[in-house]
Amino acid sequence: MGNKIKFIDVMSRINDLNLNDWKEYQDIITDSLWIIGERDKSGTHRGDYHGNFIPQIPNQLMRRFTKKGDVVLDTFLGSGTTLIECKRLGRNGIGIELLPKIAEMAKQRINQESLFGFPVLPKF
Ligand SMILES: C[S@@+](CC[C@H](N)C(=O)[O-])C[C@H]1O[C@@H](n2cnc3c(N)ncnc32)[C@H](O)[C@@H]1O
Repeated sequence: MGNKIKFIDVMSRINDLNLNDWKEYQDIITDSLWIIGERDKSGTHRGDYHGNFIPQIPNQLMRRFTKKGDVVLDTFLGSGTTLIECKRLGRNGIGIELLPKIAEMAKQRINQESLFGFPVLPKF
């Protein structure tokens, strides 16, 4: 009994949310079905690359499962949606992309998003 680990304690180790106040997070979708409105096209998000994420998806996931300062690895970087969200959320993003041209495009978008750069590793 004494060693019982509470779910809330485990979660507080992996995200920055106060789970005692989870109902107060209006922008975190807690329903089992996520109904996301309009795609976020703010900043350098363009939505113009095939198969690109709706930015709200990595945003929701990273807020639940990472803390500020954590490292997030996206092994299929594409246009850099996840790393742009990393930058906004104070996570360190590492991206791997097969196509050098696409890696360069993503790198530009990520760097233009704010003052701080993240490593983007093109896979040659
Ligand atoms: C569906 S897109 C990812 C889109 C990304 N989530 C976004 O929001 O822009 C998949 C990307 O993975 C890259 N890719 C495919 N195979 C790969 C591999 N083996 N290693 C690294 N990147 C790869 C493709 O070139 C493509 O840009």
